[in-house]
Amino acid sequence: MPSIGLGTVNINGSQGIKSVLTAIKAGYRLIDTSTNYNNEGMVGEAIRRADIPRDELIISSKLPGEAHSYDQAVNMIQESLYRIGIDYFDKYLIHWPLPKQGKYVEAWQALIDAQKFGLIQRIGVCNFLPEHLDNIINKTGVRPVTNQIERHPYFNNNDVVNANKERGILSEAWSPFGRELNDVLTHSKIEEIARKHGKDPAQIIIRWNVQNGVLPVVKSSDYRHQQANLQVFDFELTKEEVQEIDALDKGESGRVEGQHPNEYEEFH
Ligand SMILES: NC(=O)c1ccc[n+]([C@@H]2O[C@H](COP(=O)([O-])OP(=O)(O)OC[C@H]3O[C@@H](n4cnc5c(N)ncnc54)[C@H](OP(=O)(O)O)[C@@H]3O)[C@@H](O)[C@H]2O)c1
Repeated sequence: MPSIGLGTVNINGSQGIKSVLTAIKAGYRLIDTSTNYNNEGMVGEAIRRADIPRDELIISSKLPGEAHSYDQAVNMIQESLYRIGIDYFDKYLIHWPLPKQGKYVEAWQALIDAQKFGLIQRIGVCNFLPEHLDNIINKTGVRPVTNQIERHPYFNNNDVVNANKERGILSEAWSPFGRELNDVLTHSKIEEIARKHGKDPAQIIIRWNVQNGVLPVVKSSDYRHQQANLQVFDFELTKEEVQEIDALDKGESGRVEGQHPNEYEEFH
C-alpha cells in the first residue's frame, strides 16, 4: 500500500483526466474516488490513458448511503465497476456509517461477499467510530483493512486513530489540509515548523500523518503541488514538533463541516 493517496473530490471531466494523469506521472498509485464524487468514469478513462500497468494501481471507491441494503450494495459495487471500466476494485469502502438508518452491518456483509466474488480485493470503511467498528467485526467476524476518517491539525481525531490501531486497522486521513475551509495551511506554528525543515506547510502536515502511521488522502489538481506532496521522505519531525501539531486540535469544533459520524447523513 502506498503511503500517500490522491483524493479526487472536485476533480472531474476532461480537466480531471489531465489532473489524474499528472498525479500518476508524479508518482501517485492510490487513487481515491467515490460514487458520490461523480467522477468514477473520469478515473477509469485516466487510468486507461496512463502508461502504468493496472496491477501497479490501487483504485479505491466508496458505497453511498442510498445503497446500504444488501442487494442495493451488491448492485452498486457492480455499477461502479462498469462506470470505471475495471474488473475489480483494489479497495472499496463504506462511505458513511449512517447509524440512524441501521443498515451498515448489512452493507458490510455485501462488501464481504463482493470480496468473495472477486469484485474487491480489500474492504474497508470510512467515518466509522469505534462502536461501529466493533459492531461489524462482532457481527461478521471480518475486520476492515482501512478506516478513512477526517483528520487535519484542527481535528486530529487521535482517539479514532488509536482505536483503529488497537484493532489492526489502517487509518487514512481525509481533508488533511482542511479542504481550504480552514486556514491550517497558513497557521503560524505549521509555518514555523516548515521553515525549520526547509519544507512547505503542506509537506509538514503530510509528514505528521505519515510519522503517525496514517495514510493521508491528499487532493491536488496542480502538478507542482502533486509533486511537492510526495517529497516528504527526506526529513523527520521531532517528537516535540509532532506534539505541537497535535496541540492545534480544537476538538469537535475543529471538524471542517461539523460532520459527526453519528449524526451526519449523506445518501448520494
Ligand atoms: N471518506 C470521506 O468521507 C471523505 C470526505 C472528504 C474527502 N475525502 C477524500 O479525501 C480527499 C482529500 O480531501 P479534500 O479534497 O477535502 O481536501 P484536502 O486534500 O484537505 O485539500 C485540498 C486543497 O488543498 C490544496 N493543496 C493541495 N496540495 C497543496 C500544496 N502543496 N500547497 C497548497 N495547497 C495545496 C488543493 O489545491 P490544488 O488542487 O490547487 O493543489 C485543494 O484546494 C478528497 O479529495 C477525497 O478523496 C473523503
